[in-house]
Amino acid sequence: MSNNAISNEIESEIEKRRTFAIISHPDAGKTTLTEKLLLFGGAIRLAGAVKGRKASKHATSDWMEIEKQRGISVTSSVMQFDYKGHRVNILDTPGHQDFSEDTYRTLTAADSAVMLIDSAKGVEAQTKKLFQVCRKRGIPIFTFINKMDREGRNPFELLEELENVLGIRSYPMNWPIGSGKQLCGVYDRKKTQVELFKGDDHQEISVAPVSGYDDEIIREMAGQHLYDQLQEDLMLLDVAGDEFDFEKVRDGELTPVFFGSAINNFGVQTFLENFLSLAPSPSPRKSSDGEIEPSYGPFTGYVFKIQANMNPAHRDRIAFLRIVSGKFERGMSVKHVRAGKEIKLSQPQQFLAQDRDIVDTAYPGDIIGLFDPGIFRIGDTLAQGKELVFDELPIFSPELFSKVTIKNALKQKQFQKGIDQLTEEGTVQVFRTTTGFDEMILGVVGQLQFEVMEHRMRTEYGVDILLQRQPYQFARWVIDEKLDPTKFRINSLLVKDKKDNFVALFENEYAMRTAMEKMPTAKFLETAP
Ligand code: G4P
Repeated sequence: MSNNAISNEIESEIEKRRTFAIISHPDAGKTTLTEKLLLFGGAIRLAGAVKGRKASKHATSDWMEIEKQRGISVTSSVMQFDYKGHRVNILDTPGHQDFSEDTYRTLTAADSAVMLIDSAKGVEAQTKKLFQVCRKRGIPIFTFINKMDREGRNPFELLEELENVLGIRSYPMNWPIGSGKQLCGVYDRKKTQVELFKGDDHQEISVAPVSGYDDEIIREMAGQHLYDQLQEDLMLLDVAGDEFDFEKVRDGELTPVFFGSAINNFGVQTFLENFLSLAPSPSPRKSSDGEIEPSYGPFTGYVFKIQANMNPAHRDRIAFLRIVSGKFERGMSVKHVRAGKEIKLSQPQQFLAQDRDIVDTAYPGDIIGLFDPGIFRIGDTLAQGKELVFDELPIFSPELFSKVTIKNALKQKQFQKGIDQLTEEGTVQVFRTTTGFDEMILGVVGQLQFEVMEHRMRTEYGVDILLQRQPYQFARWVIDEKLDPTKFRINSLLVKDKKDNFVALFENEYAMRTAMEKMPTAKFLETAP
């Protein structure tokens, strides 16, 4: 093929692609929604397939007994399907309370996010955290308000909460007609049509074009009471609501909101179609050589996650790579920039539900899994052409801390090796105290990371560790020319990270604020410098 033909091919593949993550609090319905989306794409035929993966299938990897014991997916993977000319990549983020830095890192591989909210619960803790990571990246965020078949909160109240708690304006793309047991459908504001539930079990759905929300058809179908309510709500939205502004959606300042019920498959298809038309195709990524556009010719990508020992028969690991630009072809040679070596990509895999397929070609926006004999680290760049390094993976501020010691002092060497390798891999972060005894403190964003660390130290390095929880809740990297360690005595502790940066740990927000006030010239950073 000529160079022109190749670039046309890549352009059209980029245009087709949508790579996103679903962010939610456990139980909001992420597994259910994911499954319905995969069903539309024909990627799975049976309802329950994803659920099964969540509960037991995932336990085929025995490296993490915890995974099996709790029925959760410790590390996140990727699902791909085609829908009406689009190639969709859903990045799966762990839904359990014990999420980890992996969850945050996975979000750096997404070009947009779908925020899933339980209509009865509103914005919950984990959604808030994940939202903030997406917000910082400035990616578009779409909202699906789920479980409208249950008695939930008032839709206006939910929109207000998005604004007050998350600080994002919203534009309802559709509006529920009734709610809970009375929910009979939604009014689609963009297409001016109604989607109606039929049958007692709400399984059948009919779509009717209408002239507007005051169309008589709606009165006939929904009854006077719900019709009046809809009039009132939509008039209010027209007057007081935000205008739809595509630019603001793209900049992550306005979230299009869809109401629906994943389990009844209600509102899911229109959500998917609107999402695909509004969500961005693969976006550029920042590098040492400026922004790299997906249309930049040579192949480039970065590793955002490493999953250990997926196959229990081997000690292999899979490195997940987000393709930023160019075309991937099986067997191609690329530069492993940090290692300064050419490597051959011979056994790449793509992920769909629980199956792993070998891929021959892949394009920007796609995620491929690379067999890793121990040569990759999180954040590594692979590139053809000029050498560049992607700068996409910040080190996030941990929120839970434990002092780590070894149970059997004779194993000091293995202990140090395990700590070095596992922190390098990003399993946990390690800090050292700066005064008194030289102590090691581990920092994580989710409790599960401690358990993974304990388990892997024991099974892979033969070392039993003792973890003692510390009272700190916040960590900030402190930059100050004349840092005075005595300022960190009360409800705080000054430590150093692996690169010898100073990090202050605080027991509460008050202690953190006081330190900031006392040191007006110092910078307190939420991510590592
Ligand atoms: P998660 O991955 O976000 O943790 O949530 P998941 O999809 O597992 O859904 C959590 C629970 O909410 C499940 O019920 C699921 O059936 C239910 N659910 C999901 N979407 C809807 C919806 O639109 N309406 C209603 N009413 N319920 C919904 P469960 O009882 O925990 O599990 P199961 O026994 O139904 O499998």
